[in-house]
Amino acid sequence: MNKAKEALQNAYAPYSNFHVASAILLDDDSIVTGTNQENAAYPSGMCAERVALFAMASQHIGKKIKKMLVLARLAGHDQLAPATSCGPCRQVMLEFEQRQNQAFEVVMLSQEHQWIKAPSAKSLLPFCFTNESLQVRK
Ligand code: THU
Repeated sequence: MNKAKEALQNAYAPYSNFHVASAILLDDDSIVTGTNQENAAYPSGMCAERVALFAMASQHIGKKIKKMLVLARLAGHDQLAPATSCGPCRQVMLEFEQRQNQAFEVVMLSQEHQWIKAPSAKSLLPFCFTNESLQVRK
């Protein structure tokens, strides 16, 4: 949580003013962070969770994710804002979980300002679409 809070300053969110950071704890206890990166051509931006996940996959080959956390803050505010990961980020988390053949916990702040600890990415995405849906062998 501290690493994610520190990383919030690296969010680039001049359009939404909604700063998001994600921290991923790996099985060697190293931590990878990511922040949202917006773009004047809006859909070209990327959520904090996927920035963190793709950085992890590119730079920490062979390591497994133990848990990931997401937090957010509106520009100019001190307190954290609720932020529960969007559908596409959940979809990407699920594929990472399947690639490493091990579930990981996902921690997010609910609309009621309660910390949610989901036991797995899969639990956040019922009736999900996976490589099995494509009948592709792992
Ligand atoms: N955002 C994230 O980074 N993660 C989420 O789970 C939801 C939304 C970002 C995308 C955009 O930069 C801003 O928050 C407002 O949607």
